[in-house]
Amino acid sequence: MSNEWWRTAAIYQVYVRSFADANGDGIGDLPGVRAKLDYLVDLGVDAVWLTPFYTSPMADGGYDVADYRDVDPIFGELSDAEALIDEAHERGLRVIVDVVPNHTSSKHPWFVEALAAEPGSPARERYIFRDGRDGGPPNDWESIFGGPAWTQVPDGQWYLHLFDSAQPDLNWQNPEVREEFDSILRFWLDRGVDGFRIDVAHGMVKADGLPDAACTGQAKLLTTRQLPYFDQDGVHEIYREWRRILDSYPDERIGVAEAWVPNAERLARYLRPDELHQAFNFHFLEADWSASTFRKVIDESLEAVSGVNAPSTWVLSNHDVQRHVTRYGGGELGLRRARAAALLTLSLPGSVYVYQGEELGLPEVTDLPEEVLADPTWKRSGHTDRGRDGCRVPLPWSGTEPPFGFGGPAWLPQPADWGSLTVEVQQDDPESILSLYREALRQRRDLPAEEFTWRDAPEGVLAFHRGETFVCTVNLSSSPVTMDRPGSVRLASCPSSELDSAGDTVTLPPNSAVWWSGDVDG
Ligand code: NOJ
Ligand code: CA
Repeated sequence: MSNEWWRTAAIYQVYVRSFADANGDGIGDLPGVRAKLDYLVDLGVDAVWLTPFYTSPMADGGYDVADYRDVDPIFGELSDAEALIDEAHERGLRVIVDVVPNHTSSKHPWFVEALAAEPGSPARERYIFRDGRDGGPPNDWESIFGGPAWTQVPDGQWYLHLFDSAQPDLNWQNPEVREEFDSILRFWLDRGVDGFRIDVAHGMVKADGLPDAACTGQAKLLTTRQLPYFDQDGVHEIYREWRRILDSYPDERIGVAEAWVPNAERLARYLRPDELHQAFNFHFLEADWSASTFRKVIDESLEAVSGVNAPSTWVLSNHDVQRHVTRYGGGELGLRRARAAALLTLSLPGSVYVYQGEELGLPEVTDLPEEVLADPTWKRSGHTDRGRDGCRVPLPWSGTEPPFGFGGPAWLPQPADWGSLTVEVQQDDPESILSLYREALRQRRDLPAEEFTWRDAPEGVLAFHRGETFVCTVNLSSSPVTMDRPGSVRLASCPSSELDSAGDTVTLPPNSAVWWSGDVDG
């Protein structure tokens, strides 16, 4: 297996619950993923990241883990996970699994024990229990899902949960917690996983004394300011220890940080040579559709990682954010921009993440009936924020009506008009977004690993080259833009009939991207 595979890898995110349902109960499962591995090989990705499939009461879609070493019955059995890892490897696909170290489920045996134990007892010391202040919670921290981050237990103490009350935060000052996670990492590494996506990687260590955040609306401030429970320097010590564990296994096992931090420079701290390999670039995901915004984020991302010799990652969507077809305007415009964004993203230097369904151009489902909403945000926000279910609707694979080959009737209902978006319909259509992703992922393999240089371009257009012959142009403006033609077209996000060439110039239609073969110096 090649050296430093993660520097350029295209990694496909499988949200297991919504990918493919093998036993027909309407919930995606590990046998379903096994059955679709060849689809991922055909798509041309290098690795899959599986969201949590561990034993869980599903208070937060499996990010509330009750047993880190077993598979929840709704997803299959431990032997399915083992078989999935082996079968992926046989096909040359690497496998990254989620690890959720910031909090456990409230049904985890440790928390059950803590609730039954006395204040101050060793069982409580595995979590963050405190006495209240002035009859209320110990401080002003807010849950990311809404409401206070503290819940009171019958003996009067409060426990911290930065997310749902069914997700108590662990106490990472306690060596027992650290040892337990070292052992959990080894459990999965011994089964052959190629790495871990680390949930809330910026959250495990809290500021000494748990000081007030002194502001409200904290969940909205994650990427803009420092909060006393996020991005504390102490987390880095944990990653240095984890890196030693990863490096003690052959074939480059990696750690990927899910870290919401204020800027690219803070993010790069997670990627120092003795820490993690990658971190999700949420600043790129948050960029609005404008050439200047994208250019700024790309520059800041590349500059920050170059200081630590790490690759940048490029992420457009995941299971926590509105799907980017919708974010970029929805409908035909959104899809057109998503196609252009795919060519931009897939040609930047570093590693790229593809969230299941983005290769099908799926939009956010905004009209799910209230009674099916499962994201705890819906309840915790007092039914004001519908949460993240709209990007988690099961994939349409085939057929003309729901569940579109997914399996049983999908746990979140699919829109009736998704028949035109199925894999079956798109795979034989050379104009489909699925075909665009496949071809782009195929061509991407030939790009030089690191070189990247901006080229002069008219306003509203981004242009860069990689190596001697590869040029990418993206017209993010809403008007056609004429510029010198960089070469011959390798791949375009729009129909090639829309690219108007005259002499040495080309007119790029709005919201489109083109990959060119050209002589970079010419
Ligand atoms: C980030 C995960 O991606 C999200 O789905 C989850 O709700 C939170 N972390 C809490 O674990
Ligand atoms: Ca199932």
